[in-house]
Amino acid sequence: MIRAKTVLVTGANRGLGLEFIKQFAGLKPAAPEIILATCRNPAEATELNHVAEQNANVKVLKLDVSRMESIEECAVEASNILGDKGLGLLVNNAGINIVTALRQVTMESMIESYKTNTCGPLFMSKSFLPVLKKHAVQEKKANKTPFGSVILNVTGILGSIAKSNGGFYSYRVSKAGGNMVTKTLASELKSYGILTVALHPGWVKTDMGGPKAQLSIEESVTKSMDVIQNLTMAKAGHMLDNDGNEMPF
Ligand SMILES: NC(=O)c1ccc[n+]([C@@H]2O[C@H](COP(=O)([O-])OP(=O)(O)OC[C@H]3O[C@@H](n4cnc5c(N)ncnc54)[C@H](OP(=O)(O)O)[C@@H]3O)[C@@H](O)[C@H]2O)c1
Repeated sequence: MIRAKTVLVTGANRGLGLEFIKQFAGLKPAAPEIILATCRNPAEATELNHVAEQNANVKVLKLDVSRMESIEECAVEASNILGDKGLGLLVNNAGINIVTALRQVTMESMIESYKTNTCGPLFMSKSFLPVLKKHAVQEKKANKTPFGSVILNVTGILGSIAKSNGGFYSYRVSKAGGNMVTKTLASELKSYGILTVALHPGWVKTDMGGPKAQLSIEESVTKSMDVIQNLTMAKAGHMLDNDGNEMPF
């Protein structure tokens, strides 16, 4: 169980990321004090900017998770806003699925996917580690809990090697890499009171999931919010479905 005083979501301008921001802003009994909604093009993020206008605790920041200098700039800006509070929850949500069939896959699509889906969560976690530690120390002390901050990596069942059944090369490989990032960070960051976990949001009707998907965006994020509220240290390093059940890597 965690009460994150502060939250950051990547890819917050549309799809699941935007809905995470909306649901965090409306969280009862209390919304996080600071919600950092990051996206590549804030000037074009009309719906997100509207949410920020309605909620003083939502701040929109520029971030491209596939570019190191963008991550570093965002970490400095975020740290200034977060101040002594630090960061309680980092949601590494931004992701791409750019090619599907074997005949379409190229070196470039593999590398672009690797940068976004594998390196993105890794370097976000690395650059935000000081602020995650800051929040973890305070929350552990105040609530006597084994963890005080969370890194949630939004993964997908297509990244499961155990469940792979063909196609989606760049997506599957880069998400499987992202799962290894989760597992490795989880072991290393446990001692700081930071819980790292991977979450499969289900098959969802976003631009990525398409109109035939099983879940609405709201249904998926509502379930994910429940999983986040009920996390325990025993889940660190695991891949969970949107009911909180463990899935095979
Ligand atoms: N939908 C599903 O069925 C499903 C299933 C399993 C897992 N997931 C995962 O859930 C997460 C969210 O997916 P979604 O369905 O909401 O997809 P989506 O509607 O396509 O949205 C993807 C988001 O990621 C952002 N993004 C992409 N590359 C980025 C980069 N380099 N830096 C920063 N932001 C970047 C996009 O921003 P722009 O607008 O700038 O492109 C957009 O905000 C992804 O990690 C995805 O793999 C989705």
